[in-house]
Amino acid sequence: MALHHVDLVHRPRRLRQNESIRRLVRETTLSPDDFIAPVFVIAGTNIKHEIPSMPGVYQYSIDRVQEEIDHLLAVDVSRIILFGIPKEKDSVGSDSISENGIIQQALRSIKQANPDIYAITDVCMCEYTDHGHCGIIVNDDVHNDQTLSYLQKQAVSHADAGVDMVAPSGMMDGMVAAIRYSLDEAGYETIPIMSYAVKYGSAFYGPFREAVESTPQFGDRKTYQMDPGNVREGIKEALIDEEEGADIIMVKPALAYLDVIRAVKENTLLPVACYNVSGEYSMIKAAAEKGWIDGEKVMMETLLSMKRAGADIILTYFAQEAAALL
Ligand code: PBG
Repeated sequence: MALHHVDLVHRPRRLRQNESIRRLVRETTLSPDDFIAPVFVIAGTNIKHEIPSMPGVYQYSIDRVQEEIDHLLAVDVSRIILFGIPKEKDSVGSDSISENGIIQQALRSIKQANPDIYAITDVCMCEYTDHGHCGIIVNDDVHNDQTLSYLQKQAVSHADAGVDMVAPSGMMDGMVAAIRYSLDEAGYETIPIMSYAVKYGSAFYGPFREAVESTPQFGDRKTYQMDPGNVREGIKEALIDEEEGADIIMVKPALAYLDVIRAVKENTLLPVACYNVSGEYSMIKAAAEKGWIDGEKVMMETLLSMKRAGADIILTYFAQEAAALL
């Protein structure tokens, strides 16, 4: 039996008829202003080394990192987050608090050459410790409060080197309060803190650990990173960090945690960032390389999903590639 056409009151397809009307009613869009690009700097000279599990992502020595910065600026991506791979690692991550550490040197050089770059640093110890954990080890576990004093020194030394914003990622209790206190005491009360507040113990970090050579030498990170089953705990972590003085709250990873992004967004007035992590990048690259998916379209669709879920800011290895298409 044919449906009489006057019975068809609802025709949502009217607003999908061509690209013009689709663009007019689009609820969520991406812009290069949404992105923060991770940049890996490694000790040494004349190095541009592609990370095997992350095609298109490189470790650069400081003398060559400008190549990456130029590519980013050319597509209007001007915010970066720096990760360092030091020459030497030790049990307390000494390089991370040294005036001549890899990050401190990189910051001075990048900021001097590029006043328009907004430079953020990851404040954590796993890239600098020989055991690969995110803090000081006591009795085979990361000691929370001893780690805090190292994070304080690290944040202040990044500030001394010219950082614009710090992003503690080690999931230590009280890390935001501790860093805020030390930055303020050193006269850096205007430097914001973007907290990796809601960070899960995730297998999606695998390729990143290859990139910074930070795979834990024993155990795992489950005593400090969150259990993937928990969302209320994520809101709790976000609220604690907000109370401790965080300026931006981050959820990480992103793609498998879109519900968490939404929940956090509904419970804070702070900007919400999400980290589109290494494993999420590698999966799309690998499937695209095999010809199984259209890499560019899947990239844009997943980035859009993060924004739609509530993220105001996306840290992503796709920053340059995505911005070039916008
Ligand atoms: C810790 C840190 C990690 C990432 C960012 N900061 C790794 C970890 O917790 O093991 C992961 C980023 C990614 O996978 O892209 N310094």
